Amino acid sequence: MELPRKLMLALFWAFVLNEFFQIQHVYGATVSYDSRAIVIDGKRRVLVSGSIHYPRSTPEMWPDIIQKSKDGGLDVIETYVFWNIHEPVQNQYNFEGRFDLVKFIKTVQQAGLYAHLRIGPYACAEWNYGGFPVWLHLIPGIQFRTDNGPFKTEMERFTRKIVDMMKDEKLFASQGGPIILSQIENEYGNVAGPYGEAGKQYVKWAASMAVGLDTGVPWVMCQQADAPDPVINTCNGFYCDGFKANSPSKPTMWTENWSGWFLSFGGRVPYRPTEDLAFSVARFYQRGGTFQNYYMYHGGTNFGRTTGGPFIATSYDYDAPIDEYGLLREPKWGFLKEVHKAIKLCEAALINAEPAYTKLGSAQEAHVYSAGSGTCAAFLANIDTHSDATVTFRGTSYHLPAWSVSILPDCTNVVLNTAKISSQTTSMQMKLHSTLAGSRSMKIAGIEMVSPNWTWQQEPIGVWGSKGFSKSGLLEQITTTADSSDYLWYTTSVQVDDNEVFLKDGTQPILNVKTLGHDLHVFINEQYAGSQTGSSSQSGFTLKMPIALKSGMNDIALLSMTVGLQNYGSFFDTWGAGITGPVILKGLNGGDKNLSSQQWTYQIGLKGEQLKYYTGESTATATWTSGADLPKKQPMIWYKTAFDAPDGNDPIALNLLGMGKGVAWVNGQSIGRYWPAYIAPASGCTDSCDYRGAYSSGKCQTNCGQPSQKLYHVPRSWVQPTGNVLVLFEEMGGDPTQISFMTRSVKSLCAHVSETHLPPVDLWQLNAEIGSGGTKPKPELRLHCPSSDQLISSIKFASFGSPKGKCGSFIHGHCKTDTAMSVVEQACIGRQSCSVEVSIDKFGDPCTGTTKSLAVEASCS
Ligand code: GAL
Repeated sequence: MELPRKLMLALFWAFVLNEFFQIQHVYGATVSYDSRAIVIDGKRRVLVSGSIHYPRSTPEMWPDIIQKSKDGGLDVIETYVFWNIHEPVQNQYNFEGRFDLVKFIKTVQQAGLYAHLRIGPYACAEWNYGGFPVWLHLIPGIQFRTDNGPFKTEMERFTRKIVDMMKDEKLFASQGGPIILSQIENEYGNVAGPYGEAGKQYVKWAASMAVGLDTGVPWVMCQQADAPDPVINTCNGFYCDGFKANSPSKPTMWTENWSGWFLSFGGRVPYRPTEDLAFSVARFYQRGGTFQNYYMYHGGTNFGRTTGGPFIATSYDYDAPIDEYGLLREPKWGFLKEVHKAIKLCEAALINAEPAYTKLGSAQEAHVYSAGSGTCAAFLANIDTHSDATVTFRGTSYHLPAWSVSILPDCTNVVLNTAKISSQTTSMQMKLHSTLAGSRSMKIAGIEMVSPNWTWQQEPIGVWGSKGFSKSGLLEQITTTADSSDYLWYTTSVQVDDNEVFLKDGTQPILNVKTLGHDLHVFINEQYAGSQTGSSSQSGFTLKMPIALKSGMNDIALLSMTVGLQNYGSFFDTWGAGITGPVILKGLNGGDKNLSSQQWTYQIGLKGEQLKYYTGESTATATWTSGADLPKKQPMIWYKTAFDAPDGNDPIALNLLGMGKGVAWVNGQSIGRYWPAYIAPASGCTDSCDYRGAYSSGKCQTNCGQPSQKLYHVPRSWVQPTGNVLVLFEEMGGDPTQISFMTRSVKSLCAHVSETHLPPVDLWQLNAEIGSGGTKPKPELRLHCPSSDQLISSIKFASFGSPKGKCGSFIHGHCKTDTAMSVVEQACIGRQSCSVEVSIDKFGDPCTGTTKSLAVEASCS
């Protein structure tokens, strides 16, 4: 009798549990919203979100980046969906590898996070053509992003395709999945003016089309003041604390808080100070926001030809909390984690009340969320851009540094001030692994010989294949190539009589070429004559160049290149590229000679692209030359070499200094366009940008006078330990023997914490301890080796007293204890993480009456 009873009980529980999970699975979560917040299963939520675009990293990197996002305090991962990678040819889909959207969303789900799917399908995002496939542009009668039948048909078809895919995999929260929000369109409100009434109709149509897809979760439209109900309009920008949605029934949401800015070829490297980013976040929650998304939390890499443009660089690092290589950027990541914890301590008060506003001074204000039953949270802000202030709030005085917010989760104790970073910083290093300088020893016929590593082939100048075609006049490039390649040859010839004066007087005729861009190389009689690079202007540029012509027939071959298609603006999709003319030769006896409408022969793409030289394989048509006469500083060369991957797990970069402009492939995968020859302006940089005052994308920049991008990320999963193939196509001229492989790692961990600093947020137990007269936690210095297989191996510097300097160059001050090194070593060596209380109780008092601090530099191995 005993056994059946137990069995029945077990079966009963199995049934109950099964039912429970079935119900969970079948019914999922309800997601709605009200005036205050996104509501999940009946509960208003304060959510922190971050953008990670799946094709900008690899599936092998996703779990780690997503886990680091979770550890950083994110609740939600946001991504766009990129139409052009999924449907490169109409009705032919690709959801493989980096484009495996379902796998990405499932990885988010496995980490226990929510997802926000911005289907668009217009993305912007510094992505080629804003995410639209170029075939869309070629549909007769189409007009993008307006009340246009062919466009709406295609947009609806793709949006539905994505929604159906997500539904089939049960990925909407309403089905038990992680997706709690979706976006339709993107910032249309910013560019809608010129579309007039048709644009307004389009917005209404887009909203109702999206809502009709019945996902069971809310839709948002960002920067769209007229977003029709029930779609929520949201804010994008560096600050969104003044924003309110277009109806009192909608919550205040911020879909893009730009954590830095994107890099352009030819530009300086932008960064956004952590204190300012933290300030913007705290201000947003202070003034009523309940959903904020970092754009980007991990920016990643624009592999292949995915960059928008023109001229967006291959790196999309964005100065995000997780860097391009997937490593934590400190102190940004760590300090924002503290900010998120402080905000979460306020959640109960935030979701239950509207803020009560009090002016505390000319540029100081308090917002108090008081939800009855003693729940109270306050934010005190000083928005003065220069002066610190001391304010009185509820009878207590608080010091507020300029441009900062203090967070008081119990309306009394400050647990965080956005200007006071005590979390660790790291100094990162790029370690040289190997150069590709040229020679390796090998035995040929039993004799030890030195053979150059590099092999090469010349790309033909001008028309090279049977697919060349001739036409009178000049063709627009994007329509001609359908963006199948960056490259389009425009070739023609010109007859020069021997009585031309320039042949005798030593002058040269001037070639004038009006092009819409983006970049142009000129070859005369197969000799490279020069190049000109355009700007991001729609009208392009005019190349003017003296050229060496001979008597008789001369070949003119113009290689026009796109560098990422326009991705932003009203009617951006109609922007052209390439040589639209006129093309005029000046300085001939007969005056100007207009070549524009004569016969031109065109060739789309490179021979090496068509024959797939980038795979590195030798075929009958791709024979790689080797020998001592490796071409250097010569245009239009394909280079190939073999390499072994650096040992270990540190991320890999290719240092392409010494090369001009082109594309690089590793084992057949394009790591993107490279252009180290494009140097950032010599001035306009600052290494210590004042975080105080409104940030803009040009405010804080580094890297002046340096190549905008010399390091190119090679994902670990694209290489094997040995026998990898690197192929480069160099357009302008470079020296591949200068190339090297590097690895990225943490050189040092540092922190500098004062005894007056705030303790880490997680040490506070506000209501339990402080409210009932407990003691305040003490400030701590914390160190953490970011990689789980590393431990703190040495303390390079430790000083308690008045140390000075920065990470890597700390020095002792006049006041110091002798105990600092041993205390810190004892607490930290051999551990992945450690914390040391910063107080005289711990270290003794080397100089009574002075405020002391602890500075430490450590290394992990
Ligand atoms: C926004 C846009 C994003 C991205 C950002 C700049 O306007 O919505 O997709 O382009 O600017 O990085």
